[in-house]
Amino acid sequence: MCGIVGYVGGRPCKELLLTGLERLEYRGYDSAGICLINGRADITRRVGKVAVLRDAVGTSAHPATTGLAHTRWATHGGVIEANAHPIEACEGSGVTVVHNGIIENYAALRRELSEAGHVYHSDTDTEAIAHLVEECYSGDLVEAVHKAYQRLDGHFAFAVAHRDSPGVLVAARRGCPLVVGVGEGEMFMASAIPAFLAETRKVQHVFDDEIVVARTDGATFLSGDGTPIEREVQEVEWDDDAAEKQGYETFMLKEIWEQPDAIAQTIGERLYHGQLQLDGLNLSDEQVRGLSRIVFLACGTSYHAGLVGRYLLEEWARIPSESDIASEWRYRRPVIDRNTLVIAIAQSGETIDTLAAMKEARACGAHVLAVTNVMGSQMTRECDSVLYTRAGLEIGVAASKTFTAQLTLLYLLALRLGTIRGTLTGERAETLLAQVRSLPDLVRSTLERGELVEPIADRFARNEFFLYLGRNIGLPIALEGALKLKEISYIATDAYAAGEMKHGPIALLDDSTPVVVIATDGHVYEKVVSNIEEVRARGAHVIAVATEGNEGIRDLAEHVLYLPRTEPELQPVLAVLPLQQLAYAIATRRGLDVDKPRNLAKTVTVE
Ligand code: G6P
Repeated sequence: MCGIVGYVGGRPCKELLLTGLERLEYRGYDSAGICLINGRADITRRVGKVAVLRDAVGTSAHPATTGLAHTRWATHGGVIEANAHPIEACEGSGVTVVHNGIIENYAALRRELSEAGHVYHSDTDTEAIAHLVEECYSGDLVEAVHKAYQRLDGHFAFAVAHRDSPGVLVAARRGCPLVVGVGEGEMFMASAIPAFLAETRKVQHVFDDEIVVARTDGATFLSGDGTPIEREVQEVEWDDDAAEKQGYETFMLKEIWEQPDAIAQTIGERLYHGQLQLDGLNLSDEQVRGLSRIVFLACGTSYHAGLVGRYLLEEWARIPSESDIASEWRYRRPVIDRNTLVIAIAQSGETIDTLAAMKEARACGAHVLAVTNVMGSQMTRECDSVLYTRAGLEIGVAASKTFTAQLTLLYLLALRLGTIRGTLTGERAETLLAQVRSLPDLVRSTLERGELVEPIADRFARNEFFLYLGRNIGLPIALEGALKLKEISYIATDAYAAGEMKHGPIALLDDSTPVVVIATDGHVYEKVVSNIEEVRARGAHVIAVATEGNEGIRDLAEHVLYLPRTEPELQPVLAVLPLQQLAYAIATRRGLDVDKPRNLAKTVTVE
């Protein structure tokens, strides 16, 4: 939700900032803006994507070597130029701000500052920061930001520049991501590392309730009360190639095809001489044996990974498990205790509802395990254990490779816990581990059958409704397939437990409805077949995802997407692949921007 980029150094920064914004555009694309400090604050803002801003600023050189830029996902105030960032305080004040998050007391501040004579010119909550800094400024930008920060409620990351302080950017964070890039005689600030990855791989993380002051020769960190803090410089493993499409027409397509690697990397980390080790899981064997319950908490696609995880932990480790949406769970009065393991899953590690649910779980005494793809992200600091997926950078807003990497990690976790608890025999655990290790090859061969979705996309791309059905471990995949189609093609979808269809969704079916059914081999297959018959009886069109060798399904479904045979529990990783490809094929036929679907953002830092 919103991307911030800042630069201070020796080079003209216009192009560096625009490139940084392009790398962060997945965080929001309602409007974009840039502020170049060069004796004055030169601000350009435009509604729409960064490309529109790029056209507006033109290609001519600009001498400024200090600047801020922003790409917006609107919360407070409509999508109009006046609400685009950077936001200025009063005209002529020289204060400009870029912001990600929400200032909850913005209305009270607006009243107070307006009475004090400040003139507002946007509907944003951000403008409160700008006027507060202006109000607190008496020649020292660091002091002004520090004072302003202490008056703010909510969760935010913001950066401030002042016309009269070239060579300095001051930023603060509470609950929203912010990271510093350390260059040679230059410093970057951004919501996420890809913004400056082409320039430096050295980073300093900004933690909650900290203020950071970036100057050409380095950054200083202060706690909320003004105490200086030492912060180590870390080197990230990602390289900048990951932020390029490398010949693919979209990031999402590239990321779909990167799944074999993402899975292999996620497994590879954990195998030492063929033995499974989960470094980062800070639970003794005794604690694992004492677990009475597992609760998965997550949002979006990660929630679907948690749903799969529930089946795995019950099946292999025999631990009662449930899975919930973080934004719902956090407002319940959950009954958990120190024998509960809460597994919070978030690709970004920054989703605010998941973070809030984690805090709640820890307050109740549960052990909180974070599963994330981003090192140093906020959730890694708010947990008792952390396990990383190794999917690499994912830029497409709709998750693909991070989902299958999450599933892979959950397989490894369930295997490890099942082994410790003795619910899996050594032999069974070895068989399953061998199957997990074969996933990269199975995933590759499944993806290679991708052209099978093309005729289905040709036939149904203009339909305005799809139903997805699944049972048991196939249900989360029905949900994820439906989410993918909805996200990138704007087609209404419903996903249901197949056995529950007759209690409602069946009323939606007619002879135009495509119904995608997860019908892989397993103990519920016959039941799924009965549900397929019910669909056929209403004249709807069945697209089945089935296991290779099942010839009988051809008589029931108009289209069959076959998967290689594997253990039933491992089928979700394969079954989701043709559904990603189908959603992609339909979205491209509808001429949509697959990487940046409307209204969505990749990292959701608002509640
Ligand atoms: C957004 C993204 C989804 C993602 C969800 C949860 O809605 O568009 O792709 O699944 O956030 O993100 P997380 O980082 O918590 O996994």
